[in-house]
Amino acid sequence: MKSDKLRNYEEGTSQYFLYKEMHENQTIELVKEKKRKYGQLDQRRMTIQKALSLMDEFIDPSDPDLDVENSVHAYQTAERVRKKYPENKEFQIIGLIHDVGKVLFSFGEPSWLVVGDTYVLGCKFPESIVYYDTLKKHFDYLKYDKNGIYEEGCGLDKLVLSYGHDEYLYNVLKGNKNHRISDRYLDVIRYHSFYPWHTEGEYKQFMNEKDEEILRDVLEFNNFDLYSKEDDIEVITPEIKQYYDRLLNEYFDGELNW
Ligand SMILES: [Fe+2]
Ligand SMILES: [Fe+2]
Repeated sequence: MKSDKLRNYEEGTSQYFLYKEMHENQTIELVKEKKRKYGQLDQRRMTIQKALSLMDEFIDPSDPDLDVENSVHAYQTAERVRKKYPENKEFQIIGLIHDVGKVLFSFGEPSWLVVGDTYVLGCKFPESIVYYDTLKKHFDYLKYDKNGIYEEGCGLDKLVLSYGHDEYLYNVLKGNKNHRISDRYLDVIRYHSFYPWHTEGEYKQFMNEKDEEILRDVLEFNNFDLYSKEDDIEVITPEIKQYYDRLLNEYFDGELNW
């Protein structure tokens, strides 16, 4: 599983440098700037299918997600969801599209603003963050206590998380109205890389009632967002593609603003 592998990371690997750059360069100001920039949704117009098909074009060797091609991972995740939730089409779609925010690569963003586990800026960095040691170079290191600039119980929505493909896709889907993906599942997209929270149990003091539900959903989703399981499909057959194409057409209506 991804996080196990992550915890075995050694220094000098491409993931090490990804996290080192992320941990040294992501600041609250930068995250706000990226949110402002991409909040305009003026990068390009394309269908969700098009975005999905672009996924393999910007493979990044430092992407910790990358045991299999992004598109294969997308279909595998969706198929795992479908096996357990054959009736829940929306959840299956989330499996398929959850990483599509990686189109950020095509807008020229470096890996450390696209992939990797996310964490909170503006409060103390928990030691369970991968490559925690590289955070010691962050100029906010030791600046904040456990709650930092936030109030207990303020809700996850108030936190400034490190920027990446989760927040980007969340924002794209939130800002386009020609689809039927509900807020419940948009939150799964938004927090799926937030490992320090959903898997390590950090930041619990900031949660409100609604976040408890989000956590349940994200953890359930995380069971499917795995890498190379034995019974996985390896070839995406035309039938599988067709099935998801139909699903996407059911839930999305035309091009989205990205
Ligand atoms: Fe992801
Ligand atoms: Fe994923």
